[in-house]
Amino acid sequence: MKKKIKKIGVITSGGDAPGMNAAIRAVVRACSYYKIECVGAYRGYQGLIEGDFKPMTARDVSNIINCGGTILKSARSKDFRTKEGRKKAHEQLVKEGIDGLVLIGGDGTFTGGMIFNEEYNFPCIGIPGTIDNDIFGTNYTIGYDTALNTVVEVIDKIRDTASSHNRLFFVEVMGRDAGFIALNAGVGAGAEEILIPEENLGLERLLESLKRTKRSGKSSSIVVVSEGDKIGKNVFELADYVEENLKEYEVRVSVLGHMQRGGSPSCFDRVLASRLGVKAVELLLEGKTNLMVGLINEKVKTTNLDNAVKGRHEINKELLRVSDIMSI
Ligand code: F6P
Repeated sequence: MKKKIKKIGVITSGGDAPGMNAAIRAVVRACSYYKIECVGAYRGYQGLIEGDFKPMTARDVSNIINCGGTILKSARSKDFRTKEGRKKAHEQLVKEGIDGLVLIGGDGTFTGGMIFNEEYNFPCIGIPGTIDNDIFGTNYTIGYDTALNTVVEVIDKIRDTASSHNRLFFVEVMGRDAGFIALNAGVGAGAEEILIPEENLGLERLLESLKRTKRSGKSSSIVVVSEGDKIGKNVFELADYVEENLKEYEVRVSVLGHMQRGGSPSCFDRVLASRLGVKAVELLLEGKTNLMVGLINEKVKTTNLDNAVKGRHEINKELLRVSDIMSI
């Protein structure tokens, strides 16, 4: 018979994302609602290993729904990748009396949870929290919507200066190996071209397209480049290459970087985090494990952690077509 869950631990791990605090709040408050204890661990898996715990009650998560970052802090723990580290984490969890874990993070976080569950049969439920939106089993990850809005706002500003100086801007956005941010923010910000890892445009086609743009009478342009783009050059090399081959352009580069991970979460991310946090606690109470909660077609659904990590969340190719048509 499965052990009854009386105390749940919660961590945020991997790259932080706006809305992680809203997810922590939802987990803590759902625990209070169901009259079980909740404990946060600091710095993700590292906090489990070091026993860096903080008991959390409903009032401990007041006034955080609107805050970016994560009050539990985050880390990419190297120690947890070792058997030794996981053994220590397990000992600390047993000592603290924690009998289920909610893991808020991305694929690295879920891979850790899966291995831990396999080794110690320890109940784990994942909540997708990453700006990259690169997780299978959910249409949206927590933080993605906020990041899109941040990127669009910044590109709008870049557009002002680009058009004042008749310049071509290459704007690099985050997304590791996924083009979701680039593609959606690119369309939203009216980019001329969008370079993403899922579709290699190729240098020649990029040059052709930029020439066409110039001929069509545009005086300034914005190209959004995903950091994982496979064109074979980094954004600075790409800018140099274009400037050398298209003398008519004055080129500048802007790498948006970590600003994309900060800021107050959008309403969408807060609501998503609240729904997924509640469901994660309910699943643990039902004796479920090794699942990720996600939003599919507006409904909260579950996916095996294994599928969440190995499955591929496909980009919406229709958006590429729309972008092409818009950049005429
Ligand atoms: O996974 C989120 C993310 O922001 C990626 O988009 C990016 O490649 C990576 O994290 C950067 O990680 P770090 O903050 O550890 O440099």
